[in-house]
Amino acid sequence: MTELARFGVSMDEDMLQRFDEYVARRGLSTNRSEAIRDLVREVLAQEEIGNPDKEAVASVTMVFSHHAGDLIEKLDSIEHDFFKLIISKVHIHLDAHNCLEVILMRGPAAQVRSIAENLLGAKGVRNGKLVLTTIDE
Ligand code: NI
Repeated sequence: MTELARFGVSMDEDMLQRFDEYVARRGLSTNRSEAIRDLVREVLAQEEIGNPDKEAVASVTMVFSHHAGDLIEKLDSIEHDFFKLIISKVHIHLDAHNCLEVILMRGPAAQVRSIAENLLGAKGVRNGKLVLTTIDE
């Protein structure tokens, strides 16, 4: 059996409280460590899915503040770099500061995933999610 490794995780208290509520709602995991292990397993499994060249369609949903540094320019430049794979985008001004953006892509799974990681990893993107699927029956 593999040895268990321990590591510390820092997050703001509000997020931690919401995470604990999520863990409690699930009912299955008895503690944070189990819940985090489940989430990591899920992410790794999701990443292993499929052939990197497989045609994929994906949406990237992001929430960010348009005051966050040069974020808007950064996102724009990524989108221009990959204009052939990015087929559509919706930008909604949520309030005076916050924006919601949904970007739709179509192309080889690995490339689509890498663009999504670039977008979601841009400094200032607060919440985001990639949903990637294929068009196979
Ligand atoms: Ni906006």
